[in-house]
Amino acid sequence: MFNKRIKIKELLSQEPAEQEVTVMGWVRTFRNNQFIALNDGSTNNNIQVVVELGKFPDELLKRITTSAALKVTGAVVASLGKGQKMDLKAGNIEILGDSDAEKYPLQPKKHSLEFLREIAHLRFRTSTFGSVFRVRHALAFAVHKFFNEKGFVYMHTPIITASDAEGAGEMFRVTTLPIDGTAPKNEDGSINFKEDFFGRSTNLTVSGQLEGELGATAFGDIYTFGPTFRAENSNTTRHLAEFWMIEPEMAFYDIEDNMNLAEEFIKYIIGYAIENNKEDLEFLAQRLADEEKQLPQDKRSEMGLMEKLEFILHNNFERLTYTDAINILGESNHNKKKKFQYEITGWGMDLQSEHERYLVEKHFKKPVILYNYPAAIKAFYMRQNDGCEPGKETVAAMDILAPGIGEIVGGSQREERLDKLERRMKEMHIPAEELWWYLDTRRFGTVPHAGFGLGFERMVQFVTGMTNIRDVIAFPRTPGSAEF
Ligand code: 4AD
Ligand code: MG
Repeated sequence: MFNKRIKIKELLSQEPAEQEVTVMGWVRTFRNNQFIALNDGSTNNNIQVVVELGKFPDELLKRITTSAALKVTGAVVASLGKGQKMDLKAGNIEILGDSDAEKYPLQPKKHSLEFLREIAHLRFRTSTFGSVFRVRHALAFAVHKFFNEKGFVYMHTPIITASDAEGAGEMFRVTTLPIDGTAPKNEDGSINFKEDFFGRSTNLTVSGQLEGELGATAFGDIYTFGPTFRAENSNTTRHLAEFWMIEPEMAFYDIEDNMNLAEEFIKYIIGYAIENNKEDLEFLAQRLADEEKQLPQDKRSEMGLMEKLEFILHNNFERLTYTDAINILGESNHNKKKKFQYEITGWGMDLQSEHERYLVEKHFKKPVILYNYPAAIKAFYMRQNDGCEPGKETVAAMDILAPGIGEIVGGSQREERLDKLERRMKEMHIPAEELWWYLDTRRFGTVPHAGFGLGFERMVQFVTGMTNIRDVIAFPRTPGSAEF
């Protein structure tokens, strides 16, 4: 059998006792024609393969270059060198795949993250990206574990939809009609989507929430975890055009239940990563600390990465209303000294990320859950709070803001009262006829329910300490860029 190998992670957990093993992996370095650092992606640690002088022909040794793929069989012995407990004494070396050292773009030295983005197809072979993507995997696994343990049903909502769940109009169109001007037209000159593949205008989903609500009102608790797409032209370190979102939706939940679940969920998946990926996280913590050494004192994080994650686990998130947040921001010295780019103009304004970050990083110094936002700045489906002062109508929305990231979760209790929902949709020009199926849940056995969306990449950023969202997704899609 070809694939009879031991993974390096497992091998390194054993004691060296002359046992014979086969490993396969890619060469990180080859020193003095004697020491091969071999990595197979199971861990950041390499196995040191020791090549006895004179034992192998020169033609073979020449082919052991950075990133060549090898199969090595030999005996595991205690290492004489410092820094590792075992060596693999090479008995047999087979080159599975050559790597031309002249042409291979990843040299065994420190490359910038920007450069590595240009060779994203190879960057997994670096220690940083090895760690980031193993942590990403652990977080994804923990998401399923968390909801499974709570009895949630994992629901696959459609990628192609005809609705704009967020009503924000930032959608990628899906069509098979020709784009050269010959598409069938209506009498008024607009494109006749009745002739399109689905017999209507469709787009890539911006959120699985509306379909999720249909599931929640039958199963009770559901969650989605899939790709979502937004054609917003935001070239920032926190926006992707294609990102993964986790959207739980729960019947018989109000906004407070929703906040409790979101906080528990975030703590759970962080705890899982700490427990299962300590080595990778410690590596990333060191990387971040080294990177921050180059920054002036006041730009450095107050806590190391591990310390920050532990802090999150053991402290409650701060919860406050939008109204209280506006008051705090308005009265802050930061605002009085006009240090915000966008001044705090008062109740009703939408918060910019600089405001969110001020609350989280300067004022509270911990994650913050803001709730009860002005209805005018939030989506149509959010539950209208009763008893608001006229002109100060709020909805039961909640956003979770995380240090260094800003908004990581957006959610709400949903408007379950048909009349109020229909009135709101009309006000916001949401086409009710197209959403007849959504409104049916309010017609037949409607219940209080709530849900939220967690941006998965922002969560991975938070846990790994990576500052650019392009470095926590394998192949980022951003304005002007869809390589690989
Ligand atoms: O706040 P958003 O737009 O909320 C919704 O889509 C709701 N339907 C969720 C729900 O209630 N089921 O997006 C939710 C989260 C944000 O808080 C953010 O973390 C992330 O998705 N997000 C993005 N992440 C990366 N790139 C983008 N362009 C993102 N837009 C939103
Ligand atoms: Mg939001």
